[in-house]
Amino acid sequence: MRNVTVFGGSGFLGRYLISRLVKGGDRVRAAVRDPAAASHLLPLGDVGQVQPVQANIRNAASVRRAVGGADVVVNLVGLLYQRGAQSFQAVHEDGAATIAAVAAEAGASRLLQVSAIGAAADATSAYGRSKAAGEAAVREHFPGATIVRPSIVFGPEDGFFNLFGMLASLSPVLPLIGGGHTRFQPVYVGDVADGIDALSRDPASAGATYEFGGGQVYSFRELMEMVCAQTGRQRFLVPVPFALVKFDAAFLQLWPRPLLTMDQVELLKRDNVADGNCPGLDDLGIAPTPLEAVLPTYMHRYRRAGRLQPTEQA
Ligand SMILES: NC(=O)c1ccc[n+]([C@@H]2O[C@H](COP(=O)([O-])OP(=O)(O)OC[C@H]3O[C@@H](n4cnc5c(N)ncnc54)[C@H](OP(=O)(O)O)[C@@H]3O)[C@@H](O)[C@H]2O)c1
Repeated sequence: MRNVTVFGGSGFLGRYLISRLVKGGDRVRAAVRDPAAASHLLPLGDVGQVQPVQANIRNAASVRRAVGGADVVVNLVGLLYQRGAQSFQAVHEDGAATIAAVAAEAGASRLLQVSAIGAAADATSAYGRSKAAGEAAVREHFPGATIVRPSIVFGPEDGFFNLFGMLASLSPVLPLIGGGHTRFQPVYVGDVADGIDALSRDPASAGATYEFGGGQVYSFRELMEMVCAQTGRQRFLVPVPFALVKFDAAFLQLWPRPLLTMDQVELLKRDNVADGNCPGLDDLGIAPTPLEAVLPTYMHRYRRAGRLQPTEQA
């Protein structure tokens, strides 16, 4: 039985990964800021197999306590926007470096660091630059770390499709940010979890960087059309230039949990597609789950109550 510590285990991807790890027989420590918020993870394994422990990756002592005795360490911690001490530098870069240094010092055999497609030292978004800096820091402290860069991740608890599904249910208009030309390669959360689980069991992947994308590339416009179809809403898709969206984001980002930030607009300017130079899900024998197979399982939340499905009408 392996001991695995998962930082960020209480998040969207965390629950799927932990479910895979426990099925593989691992004992999992879910290292989270608030262990009470991770109680939903307990039923994923046998009694005692999943243990929430308190850790803030901005605090080295708490990271050390969470990592002690672990064979495998996984870092899933990520932010979409910065707030106070929760800055990209503190979490994506310094926090990742702390985990890598502590994992090396504690003798963990494997470290998996989840980054993002678009991580680049010259990215125009602070998010992308901080993810790249985190990758570099992890490599410096733990050269055998495996880095995983997913494209946009979909699944019932995702941020992206739920946001636009909700917008489609409330507004007659959906914005085509930057004209809707940016391309994405959405990847199913369960496939990302399967991939990380497989990498954690494959010593040959140490030191490699993987990019996980789904089976198909879509433009932003195609994704919005799909949201409309799946929610049964006919909406006006209105192209909005990046400059105007950025202006709006300057106000939206002042909200406590912003719908959009100026930095996210920068992210949306670049295609979010695997570049083909890194291995991916195919190399792990994982066939990507189609977006069309999963979206209907949760986009129905945003349909009008009582509205018949086309199949029911037939
Ligand atoms: N979802 C996507 O579409 C996507 C795409 C590309 C890459 N990624 C990357 O994949 C990883 C997982 O994403 P996700 O969607 O599962 O994110 P998520 O749902 O936002 O989860 C992030 C986790 O990080 C934890 N966290 C935040 N700050 C922390 C800190 N200072 N110390 C300890 N834990 C902290 C959060 O716990 P709290 O409850 O304590 O805040 C939460 O458990 C991230 O690195 C993300 O950047 C995600």
